[in-house]
Amino acid sequence: MNIAIFLSGRGSNFLSISDSIKSGKLNAKIVLVGSNNADAVGLQKAQESGYNTQVFNRQEFGDGKKFAKFMDDEFSKFGVEYIVLAGYLRKMPPRIIETYKDRIINIHPALLPKFGGKGMYGLHVHNSVLEAGESETGVTIHFVDNKYDNGNIIAQKSIPVLTDDTPETLSARVLELEHSFYPEVLQKIATNSL
Ligand code: GRF
Repeated sequence: MNIAIFLSGRGSNFLSISDSIKSGKLNAKIVLVGSNNADAVGLQKAQESGYNTQVFNRQEFGDGKKFAKFMDDEFSKFGVEYIVLAGYLRKMPPRIIETYKDRIINIHPALLPKFGGKGMYGLHVHNSVLEAGESETGVTIHFVDNKYDNGNIIAQKSIPVLTDDTPETLSARVLELEHSFYPEVLQKIATNSL
């Protein structure tokens, strides 16, 4: 399974996927790492590790269609089969969502459909979980459609919210779960055993 990973920030999920491939737990190949943000730490780490990287900056293109064509052409060039979003804070262009239907996957740090949608990222998610008095939270892996955090759910795993949790402690525990769960689910997709 040839995958492109898309990220906007630190890229810890990208690294856990990369490590899982290296250790033989995940049968996939990262053929491209993309970002909207040229300064993303995750993109720099990908460059240092020798992956193909590309910045996809919508602003550099006159219209959305040209941007989508550029993206599509890059995916063809590198033989991308699946697109794996790992902390990517932009929407994919409609053309890409159509072409890669059921082949764009995202991870979200809560139990969707709760605590998702525009603006629900990072500590905002965990703050909201605590404010709502939830007894559990977790990780959702889902297909991507044209709305934020909305596509069909592939898999979820929950963990308890502890009475003394802060947004930071909750974020750290959920992230640890993400690092094992995302490669596990991707391996099921790669081996057609979902
Ligand atoms: C993760 O919590 C992921 O669920 C969300 O964005 C965060 C990315 O973290 N979509 P990282 O960049 O992989 O460290």
